[in-house]
Amino acid sequence: MRSLIAYSLVCASGFMACLLPLTQLQANDAALGKEIYQDACAACHGRDMVSPGLAFDLRQFPLAEFERFQNSVLNGKPPGMPAWRSQLSSEDIKALWDYVKTRG
Ligand code: HEC
Repeated sequence: MRSLIAYSLVCASGFMACLLPLTQLQANDAALGKEIYQDACAACHGRDMVSPGLAFDLRQFPLAEFERFQNSVLNGKPPGMPAWRSQLSSEDIKALWDYVKTRG
């Protein structure tokens, strides 16, 4: 996540920008997550997370269960849900999670 790396660097060097509102950072991550979602997930889970009925409706995913989300994305859920371990980094998955949390 480029924004997070930039943020950490700025933070580490002690600039006031460290106090950037976290909400803004969240919005950026959700936007990145949405891009990844449209490329990798929308074909099955539907545009803007509106499931066409082929797969789990991600707007219903319990928001207290990040671990479950991460495991399902990394390892897949055979036979319907492919594993993304080799294609997505843990940062990509966090960005996806930020997008899922917006509920579309
Ligand atoms: C080829 C179709 C397909 C693609 C592409 C796909 N999924 Fe899925 N996904 C499914 C199906 C089918 C299920 C339901 C599996 C089940 O519950 O047995 C599912 C279930 C899930 C679940 C719920 C698992 C659980 O714990 O109950 C999550 C979370 C999920 N997908 C996230 C994603 C994300 C994020 C992406 C993009 C990186 C993605 N999926 C891409 C088909 C797909």
